[in-house]
Amino acid sequence: MSSPSPRRPLMAANWKMHKTPAATREFIAQILPLLAANFAAARPCEVVIAPPFPCLPAAAEAAQGTPISLAGQNLHWEVSGAFTGEVSAEMLLATGCQYVIIGHSERRQYFGETDETVNRKLRAALTAGLKPIICVGETLEQREAGRTEAVLRRQFEDGLHGLTTEQLENCVLAYEPVWAIGTGRTATPEIAAAAHHFLRELAGARFGAPAAARLRILYGGSVKPDLIRGLMAQPEIDGGLVGGASLDPQSFAALVNF
Ligand code: PGA
Repeated sequence: MSSPSPRRPLMAANWKMHKTPAATREFIAQILPLLAANFAAARPCEVVIAPPFPCLPAAAEAAQGTPISLAGQNLHWEVSGAFTGEVSAEMLLATGCQYVIIGHSERRQYFGETDETVNRKLRAALTAGLKPIICVGETLEQREAGRTEAVLRRQFEDGLHGLTTEQLENCVLAYEPVWAIGTGRTATPEIAAAAHHFLRELAGARFGAPAAARLRILYGGSVKPDLIRGLMAQPEIDGGLVGGASLDPQSFAALVNF
């Protein structure tokens, strides 16, 4: 039997552009009793919710005094300035966030984010004391062309460029194959685990084996309650970054309570 993972599991809800402040309060009120057993467990799964920015104050109020952590879905790399529509790391922290999602494929696809902007955002988050959840993942075209590892390598190396081993300790990686996001086409546990293993090897080469062994790597892409056990049975998979199935308290609780 293999020894238990040194990494604490983490389930993160990425609500994307869904819910109002009132719906946020309702969700948290409904999910808290469903998570009671998890939070009372000896080794609870960590729970992170990333609501849209205007819902963060409502989420912070509803989650106050509970083990639920909050995340921003994005941030700007500057501290402040004339950047209409953007938010800074300090603003997220002041609104109750501990985490921030960086480089989600939807940001890359629709809003022009690159590995370079991911790197800038990552540094800004870490400098401010926010824990980044850094997303990487290949498109279907890239996978079919046999370029998955090359794409992951580039995203990892350029995205995490200049990071220290100490900074890596505060990072979470999310492997999100673009072809699996919102498509209902989940990666098989074996495909996901192979990508996670590859990412952990890259981390080992860059930051050393002990730091790589402590790095949490989440899987994201059509994670659903009926598939979570199979995914979490893979020692390489440390949790999930969940879109659609995180919008309903019953289904997100089922994921946390895998
Ligand atoms: P999905 O989204 O679970 O709806 O596929 C995952 C994500 O985009 O993080």
